[in-house]
Amino acid sequence: SVPCLASPDDFLQCLREKIPSELVYTQSSSSFAGVLVSSIRSARFLTNTTVRPLCVVTPTDASHVQAAVLCGRTQGVRLRVRSGGHDYEGLSYRSARPEVFGVVDLTNLRAVSVNQSETTAWVDSGATIGELYYTIAKDNSQLAFPAGLCPTIGVGGHFSGGAIGMMMRKYGLAVDNVLDAKFVTANGDLLDRAGMGEDLFWAIRGGGGGSFGIVLSWKVQLVQVPPMVTMFNIVKTLDQGAVDIVTRWQDVGPSLPNDLTIRVIVQGQQALFQALYLGTCSSLVATMGDQFPELAMTSADCQSMTWLQSIAFISFWNRDTPVEALLSRTTSLSTYSKSKSDYVQNAISKGVWKDIFSWFTMNGAGLVILEPHGGFMGSVPTDATPYPHRSGVLYNVQYMVFWQGDGGTAANTWLGNFYDFMGPYVSKNPRQAYVNYRDLGIGQNVVVDDVTTFDGGKVWGEQYFASNFQRLASVKAAVDPTDYFRNEQSIPPLVQGL
Ligand code: FDA
Repeated sequence: SVPCLASPDDFLQCLREKIPSELVYTQSSSSFAGVLVSSIRSARFLTNTTVRPLCVVTPTDASHVQAAVLCGRTQGVRLRVRSGGHDYEGLSYRSARPEVFGVVDLTNLRAVSVNQSETTAWVDSGATIGELYYTIAKDNSQLAFPAGLCPTIGVGGHFSGGAIGMMMRKYGLAVDNVLDAKFVTANGDLLDRAGMGEDLFWAIRGGGGGSFGIVLSWKVQLVQVPPMVTMFNIVKTLDQGAVDIVTRWQDVGPSLPNDLTIRVIVQGQQALFQALYLGTCSSLVATMGDQFPELAMTSADCQSMTWLQSIAFISFWNRDTPVEALLSRTTSLSTYSKSKSDYVQNAISKGVWKDIFSWFTMNGAGLVILEPHGGFMGSVPTDATPYPHRSGVLYNVQYMVFWQGDGGTAANTWLGNFYDFMGPYVSKNPRQAYVNYRDLGIGQNVVVDDVTTFDGGKVWGEQYFASNFQRLASVKAAVDPTDYFRNEQSIPPLVQGL
């Protein structure tokens, strides 16, 4: 349903009164399209039929964010917030349904300040993780932070969904290392951890972006890495035993020493084993010989570098790319993509892996990325944060397809069919998914009497959050009972007495 709108004109007038006009881009402004597109990461949401915002506001101060929320509340216009714009369904800047809304784009709020003696940092949501990593490690090769892989991801959305990456087996998710936050509520109040209380602080660390309010800044605990780390990329084709080795990896990957993460990318008729080891080549060779001899890794596979260089290497596939490239915000919009996700709790048999590889010979085939859990991840209780996929999870599966222009039919058909095929082999009742790999295909909210229903939200919500979904909905009811911050997959308020 289209929300009842008080007055878009009064909303824009309110913004102009409270926020410097050069920070407010309306649809009639000549810079509007440029600002809107600046961090769109999926060409799927850059079409003539995409439902665009009424305006984009680019605050340079917390007070502008507060003012935007107050204008939106009083004039009945919803806001969506964008940090890095990487949402797989574009929910930070477009609506899947007809709707009039504004966007608060945090691109100007992107400071990172490191406290070397405390080994902590404050990072603004508008920073990219590339900027975060670079600022942490450029002058101290032994400091790092555990989060995702693509340097242009925004801190705001990424941390809001948990943030998995190559060091989670040692240090957990990004949100396992968040100490404090600055947050603007649906009433326009600016709160820190003490002010918001532990329930809301729990919810914003993984309960998904766009539901509770706007996180401006995060205080994080930095982690220690050795001055040099070791990486390898080993490809195994079917002829080289890819089926056996992937089958074996399912048991080995999640139980290796926490210092070693080996993820797998299956594409075509081969599997790429990509490793980050927080230690030396010789000790990696010894560990691999002992625990995963099937991969036949040798010292010739070792690539030794600083942790920051390893981030650049894994992002750009080129050891010569300078670490400064991690600061670039430019991405290509030429390729379309769509993702889905699963979690695997019981290793899939060799026979099924043979069948899985045959899917990658089909028309429209994409790739899958397997991210091992276990280690530290398995020691965190399910309800410690909203991210429930902890003990018992072997690995996350991300399915991705890519296409150019209008030619998405074969790719999307393959994705849907392959996802159905995988159903019996992955987590069930409900089937689980990762909120940061957002997928509107698993369910969308139902709005009744201008409030998102709990039962409608449960359909997708229990897939992302399992038993944590109900607590998230209770927090939502406490902090945003009228459901101001709403999108197609925002947490619904659980009204007492239901
Ligand atoms: P964006 O700005 O689009 O926001 C995403 C959602 O969060 C939206 O609903 C938005 O409204 C909300 N939001 C944004 N800022 C907010 C704020 N300050 N306060 C409250 N809500 C806010 N994930 C992962 O865990 N590990 C990985 O390695 C990768 N790798 C990866 C690569 C690539 C190429 C892409 C496109 C994506 C990933 N991801 C990932 C997924 C990524 O974590 C996810 O898309 C994040 O939500 C992106 O955060 P952005 O701020 O960029 O998105």
